[in-house]
Amino acid sequence: MPTFGDGRRVVVVAGLRTAFAKAGTVLKPMSAIDLGRACVSELIERTNLDPAQLEAIVFGTVIPSILAPNIAREIALMPMLPKGVQAYSVSRACASANQAITDAADQIALGQADVVIAGGAESLSNIPILHARGFADALMAANRAKSLPQRLGAFSRVRPKDLRPIAPAIAEPSTGETMGESAEKMAKINHIPRDEQDQFALRSHRLAAAGTADGRLTAEIAPTYVSPRYETVITSDNGIREQTSYDQLAALKPVFDRTYGTVTAGNSSPLTDGGGAVLLMSESRARALGYAPLAVIRAYAYAALDPGEQLLQAPVLAAPVALKRAGLTLKDMDLIEMHEAFAAQVLSNLRGFESQQWAERAGMSAPLGEVDRTRLNVMGGSIAIGHPFGATGARILTTLCNELARRRGQFGLLTVCAAGGLGHAMVVERI
Ligand SMILES: CC(C)(COP(=O)(O)OP(=O)(O)OC[C@H]1O[C@@H](n2cnc3c(N)ncnc32)[C@H](O)[C@@H]1OP(=O)(O)O)[C@@H](O)C(=O)NCCC(=O)NCCS
Repeated sequence: MPTFGDGRRVVVVAGLRTAFAKAGTVLKPMSAIDLGRACVSELIERTNLDPAQLEAIVFGTVIPSILAPNIAREIALMPMLPKGVQAYSVSRACASANQAITDAADQIALGQADVVIAGGAESLSNIPILHARGFADALMAANRAKSLPQRLGAFSRVRPKDLRPIAPAIAEPSTGETMGESAEKMAKINHIPRDEQDQFALRSHRLAAAGTADGRLTAEIAPTYVSPRYETVITSDNGIREQTSYDQLAALKPVFDRTYGTVTAGNSSPLTDGGGAVLLMSESRARALGYAPLAVIRAYAYAALDPGEQLLQAPVLAAPVALKRAGLTLKDMDLIEMHEAFAAQVLSNLRGFESQQWAERAGMSAPLGEVDRTRLNVMGGSIAIGHPFGATGARILTTLCNELARRRGQFGLLTVCAAGGLGHAMVVERI
């Protein structure tokens, strides 16, 4: 069966990210552009890439800067790069870095490029705050006014409610449901008890703490000097709680359904700042430049379902398609990296992998089967490490490729759920 990029195989040469920090903490002074530049510049340094070889940057972000919406181009314009690196930005909610990666891979597979950096960044510490329509209209009218009385008159129609700031909500525009409420709903539909969610969150922290202690996770992190003062450096993720216990997690109050809920701050991914990027090349160019690529992209898929149904369940529809396109089965996978928006979502996705009903919805005759937990998120996941929306896909792909190499595994699967009822899956093979 022909697989992705047959004839022009696309390889992952390397990946790198900033440390991930809880929003409002150490990375707060940095914009998403700063975070993107921090990881891309260090990725270029560490891979010794001649900047003249770089043809394009594709970057994802979920809440872009209104003043500089094409984050990819702003990154490409950093001083170390020639001005001729073309660049564009993408958005696919929490799968935005994945979209950037698959866009870049498509360009390479089609012969449009040979060397592309793809990734994403997010600063949830720096979200744009908007004005209500009434106040925005007054500001525009005052801007057009030709005299002071006209200018003052423009504000005369402003009412107190117009002064209310509007911040982006982590809620579905189509249903109004927040991500957390969706996770609650999924926990109920799929019968995911609170203790199972807390055990999964504990596992995420323990594995991430181990990966940090032994250097596997920190090897994927560019020490991040916090601009603009560069007085602070962060070298590891600050949301990982090595001391957390099941009892502490179990004691937390539910956040999104305070009466009957099971989803807490402990079993959810935290709001996070960070950036991540991967260097992709055609296999032939990578070899010609003397690189030893980590993995080849075998296949990928996107899927969608009704956001009013089970918002974060679409990886269950994407994974079978990606595996089928790769000509492989779940059993062939040595490692699986699944984005952890919420423990309830991961556990719902895993239940979905085993369900005949979901298999049929994905167009398959049989379920994927049970995921071997010893191969799943072996260095923890977004619950512990954090989840800068636009960047997570790059982190997951980097970890998957590096860990496949360490374990001398062959195949890896990654999945990401995203707002809008979207899901993504990718299959890679170590080479
Ligand atoms: C769940 C959420 C609302 C919690 O936000 P928050 O209240 O600011 O979270 P905090 O980190 O302050 O944690 C709240 C409390 O739980 C405690 N806590 C959190 N995780 C813990 C853990 N693993 N172990 C022990 N205690 C923990 C904190 O210490 C804090 O306690 P305190 O109030 O005594 O200080 C926020 O993280 C969120 O919105 N997450 C979901 C993001 C989302 O929707 N992402 C999209 C997914 S695709």
